[in-house]
Amino acid sequence: MVKPLIAGNWKMHGLAGDLDTVATIASVADFEAGAVDVLLCLPATLIADAARLTFTSTLVIGGQDCHSGVFGAHTGDISATMLHDAGARAVIVGHSERRRDHRETDLMVSAKAAAAVAAGLLAIVCVGETASERSEGRTLDVVLGQLKASLAGCDAENVTNIAVAYEPVWAIGTGLTPTPEDIAAVHVQLRRSLIELFGDAGTAVRILYGGSAKPDNAAQLLTIPDVDGALVGGASLKAADFASIIRAGAEIARNRRGHLA
Ligand code: PGA
Repeated sequence: MVKPLIAGNWKMHGLAGDLDTVATIASVADFEAGAVDVLLCLPATLIADAARLTFTSTLVIGGQDCHSGVFGAHTGDISATMLHDAGARAVIVGHSERRRDHRETDLMVSAKAAAAVAAGLLAIVCVGETASERSEGRTLDVVLGQLKASLAGCDAENVTNIAVAYEPVWAIGTGLTPTPEDIAAVHVQLRRSLIELFGDAGTAVRILYGGSAKPDNAAQLLTIPDVDGALVGGASLKAADFASIIRAGAEIARNRRGHLA
């Protein structure tokens, strides 16, 4: 059984004054560290300070994107090696906001994921369908196609450094979520594809759900089969909200373990 991962994504939010929130989240992460892993993907400007602040904590600090190269003439870009150097240990790649705002393709996402893994980061590879793709009945085609193409640069040896986040685009920041049955249907197929790609090692890749995960739906989302954690945007900005999602994940993990014991 994989240990759930509760990951926050602050997007373009957070100033130095918000490091207090990071410290509070770190203390909750430490308290629940036996049951869940906790990650906070911060804007690049906060990573080094947050990593120093949480040096003795189990809270993992991550970035939200990286370039596929290591160094070079790419004004404004940050490499996975630089993120690692600043203290990050994970990075989100292929978030739908980057695919949309920066026209990132699966090919680019695949190169970024490979660069992240090579730099020693956990790459959280995001996939998800738009509202129109869903209404056309193409959800599985789109999501599984993105998965395969975005992981083309990774192999079975890398899988401990990979997580997948299923984030329906229409659920992000909208307060809408798919039904538990719909989420389960996608996650089970993602799992199958991961096993096809990586063999047995594919069973250990964590598949997170993201899109309007909140304190009041976290317990329901995190008990869905093959949901191994959550990628949380808006609700990770407030320590109290993110803490209650972390606690929900921890309680579910403890209960599952109890059943197995
Ligand atoms: P949300 O964002 O939780 O605010 O919907 C999730 C994400 O984009 O990762």
